[in-house]
Amino acid sequence: MLMGKTMTTKLTIPRPDDWHVHVRDGALLAGVLPHTARQFARAIIMPNLNPPMADSAGVLAYRQRIMAALAQTAPECAFTPLMTLYLTDATDPEMVARGHAAGDFIAAKLYPAHATTGSAHGVTDIARIWPVLERMAEIGMPLLIHGEVTDAHVDVFDREAVFIDRTLAPLIARLPDLRVVFEHITTAQAAAFVRSAGPNVAATITPQHLHLNRNAMFAGGIRPHAYCLPVAKREHHRQALRQLATSGFARVFLGTDSAPHDRHLKEAACGCAGIFNAPYALESYATVFDDEGALDRFEGFAARNGPAFYRLPVNPDTITLVREPVTVPATITCNGTAIVPFHAGETLAWRVLT
Ligand code: DOR
Ligand code: ZN
Repeated sequence: MLMGKTMTTKLTIPRPDDWHVHVRDGALLAGVLPHTARQFARAIIMPNLNPPMADSAGVLAYRQRIMAALAQTAPECAFTPLMTLYLTDATDPEMVARGHAAGDFIAAKLYPAHATTGSAHGVTDIARIWPVLERMAEIGMPLLIHGEVTDAHVDVFDREAVFIDRTLAPLIARLPDLRVVFEHITTAQAAAFVRSAGPNVAATITPQHLHLNRNAMFAGGIRPHAYCLPVAKREHHRQALRQLATSGFARVFLGTDSAPHDRHLKEAACGCAGIFNAPYALESYATVFDDEGALDRFEGFAARNGPAFYRLPVNPDTITLVREPVTVPATITCNGTAIVPFHAGETLAWRVLT
C-alpha cells in the first residue's frame, strides 16, 4: 500500500453472475447448487450431463430439477439458472432457433468430441454444424466454446493454442456475426486473441487459472485437485490471464467452471478433470484483484461485463466483500458426497459478508 492511501477493507458491488458452472444432477445437484446460488444471481449452466442436454425437452426438465433442488436446499436464494444446449453432430438448426426464441436456452455449448468430461456426444468436426452456427449467427444466440483440439498428436499443453489457429480463427472469419464466448481461457495466445477480436468475441477466466500454473499439479507429488481441463499452463500464461482479467477490458468476465467430483474419483489412478471452486469463488477472485492492485476493476469483471455481453441487465441487488481472512475447509460434504474444494486448507484474504 502506498503511503497516504487508505487500504480498501470493504467492497460492495452489484451481485455477480457465474458465466460458466457445472451444477451436476441427482443427489449431487442439491449438494453443490447452494454454493453457487448463495453468491451469484444467475449462472450459465453447463449441459454435459449423461445423457447430454441436447434438446428443449431435456434442458427444460433439467431446469426443473435445478429449481426443485433450489427450493429444497436454498429457498432463500433468488437464483436464476441460465440454461444451455449441448451441440452434437445431429443438432437441428430449427430446433435451436425455436428453443432459443421460446427461452428454453440462452446459448449453445460446443464441446469438441472427447475433449473433456461429458463430451463423448460432442461435435466431431465443426463442418458438421455449419447450418446450426449460421442460424445462431442470424438470431444473435451466443456460442460457448470449449476451445481445445482433440488430436492425440497435439501436446495437451498446446491444445488450446492449436484450437485457435485450426478452428476458432477460421470460424470467426467465416461467421463474423456469430457471438462467441471462448470459455475458461488458459493461455497468453487466447488472451491476445480475445483482445484483438471484434465485439462479438468474449472470454471467461476461472479462479484456478488465475492462481495456478502447471507446477501446482506436481508440487511434491501428483496433485489431482489442481487438475482440470483445459489444464493449467506455464507461469507466463497465468500472468497474461491475470493481466487481462484485471485490465478493465470489457469482453472478459467471471466464469468459475466449478466442476465438482467425488474426492475418490479424483484421487484415483485415472482421476477426473475438474475443480470445485464454487464455495469460495468470489473470495478467490477478489484475492487476485487485490494482489494485482486492481480491486477497482473487480466490479466490471464480476458483475458488469458478463451482462453487457449477454445483453442482460446488471443485477439490482449488491454483495459485500470484506478484507477478513477466511480458511477454506479440507473437504466439503455435499449431500453425502465428500469433495475437496479449490484452496482446501488455505486462507484467503477476502470474505463475502452474509
Ligand atoms: O475440468 C473440467 N471438468 N473441464 C471440463 O471441461 C468439464 C468439467 C467437468 O464437467 O467435470
Ligand atoms: Zn466447464
